Amino acid sequence: MLDLAQRPKAELHLHLEGALEPELMFALAKRNDVQLPYADENAIRAAYDFSQLQDFLDLYYAGTSVLQSADDFHALAMHYAERAIADGVTHAECFFDPQAHTDRGIAMDVVFSGLTRAAGEARERGLTLSLILCFLRHLSEDEALRTLDAALPFRDHFIGVGLDSSEVGHPPSKFRRVFEQAGKLGLRRVAHAGEEGPPEYVWQALDELGVERIDHGNRALEDKALVARLRRDRIPLTVCPLSNLRLCVVDSLDAHPLRNMLEAGLTVTVNSDDPAYFGGYVNDNYIAVQDALGLSDRDITTLIEFSMASRFVTDT
Ligand code: HPA
Ligand code: ZN
Repeated sequence: MLDLAQRPKAELHLHLEGALEPELMFALAKRNDVQLPYADENAIRAAYDFSQLQDFLDLYYAGTSVLQSADDFHALAMHYAERAIADGVTHAECFFDPQAHTDRGIAMDVVFSGLTRAAGEARERGLTLSLILCFLRHLSEDEALRTLDAALPFRDHFIGVGLDSSEVGHPPSKFRRVFEQAGKLGLRRVAHAGEEGPPEYVWQALDELGVERIDHGNRALEDKALVARLRRDRIPLTVCPLSNLRLCVVDSLDAHPLRNMLEAGLTVTVNSDDPAYFGGYVNDNYIAVQDALGLSDRDITTLIEFSMASRFVTDT
């Protein structure tokens, strides 16, 4: 049996706001005098009963209301860093959603200064933490362009851009110009696609946004030509098994497509997505799929190797 915590690995699909555990949510609510509609931490956990992505997103955005100061963003990222280090994560490329904060009146520099300070401290403890700025796809492309502009003073503090939030009805093609702009700035590009949305969204992410990794990508398996393309170009899929279970993307973990992805020759990685909401950090995800899909230790080693090979940042 593998000792997963002893195996250096990368995490490539992690939303920092999704690492906001109920305990920290309550502590920050108290510190900032924010009223939460829950009596206690247990009541928060009891509310995490989702039947689709949007159910989760509604609570996820509501939870961000407790994040107000740079110290709050620092505390959030340090909490994640500690859990990741305990799991043997040596490098994480973490998403954050600036629009979820700037739209509440929190300045961009507050977000960056808290997260960047945490990244510096994590590095001293053996975890390099890079940031990927995500655009919220339920908002307009003009808002995404303004967000990219507002982040330019902090260009050295993030490595890439991503696309998240409500997928269906918000195809990647809606964000073609902002991704083109990001590419010109030398930013790496990723997008959530094929979590709930059709294979067509994965094609668009590749062909119209120029992404180098696909976040989730489950539904790509419905399209043989797309699978061939992902294999040919060795496009990594950042798969999140416990997230897929909790958001009903799969009915059960033993029906998870991860084994089929591996057998199709795809570069698959295992990640936790929003661990505070989905019941597990990255090693919990490895263990869950190993058990449910009967993966061998060799398969787990391959997944770990793929995580390291799929990093954008390797010179740390
Ligand atoms: N999917 C889409 N948007 C998100 C997610 C997710 O799993 N987590 C945070 N924002
Ligand atoms: Zn995600």
